[in-house]
Amino acid sequence: MRRGMCPGTFDPVTSGHLDIIERAAGLLDELVVAVALSPDKGGGPLFSIDERCELIRAATGHLPNVSVRPFDTLLVDFASELDATVIIKGLRAVTDFEREFQMAQLNYRLVPDVETMFIMAIPEYMYLSSSAVKEIARHGGSVAGLVPENVSEALAERLARSR
Ligand code: PNS
Repeated sequence: MRRGMCPGTFDPVTSGHLDIIERAAGLLDELVVAVALSPDKGGGPLFSIDERCELIRAATGHLPNVSVRPFDTLLVDFASELDATVIIKGLRAVTDFEREFQMAQLNYRLVPDVETMFIMAIPEYMYLSSSAVKEIARHGGSVAGLVPENVSEALAERLARSR
């Protein structure tokens, strides 16, 4: 039984994340989407950890071997706790490479038994990021197709409340 994890901040989950999750789920028996608390990222997340988890759960309901878990520890410690042997990350452009390479090297140094593997983003989502989605939504632009429908609704609601 091969269990993997797909970690990230997911503030919020995008169609690009979802594509990587779907493709990773097809390669593994079980996939845990590991949602990091990341309290300091980008001036603090827009959605709470519970909200981010719920948005991913709703968007991955069609994937029976996918579960969603929050964590606030070292990624490799959470992998050991879950008995996950592979960390799956999405790679968009070359700009992702240096940071991902560093994280993969450090994680390997900490726990060599856990392998990091990368799935390339499809061209349609190469440019997509949670922060770009939030910026578009904040300025009233359409995020249709860039995020799952439930996330689009949650963004509209959250940003209307903060106006
Ligand atoms: O979506 P992100 O913000 O690029 O994901 C980064 C994440 C959450 C995978 C990374 O920050 C992480 O693994 N955080 C957990 C703490 C940890 O293990 N840090 C050391 C990594 S070298």
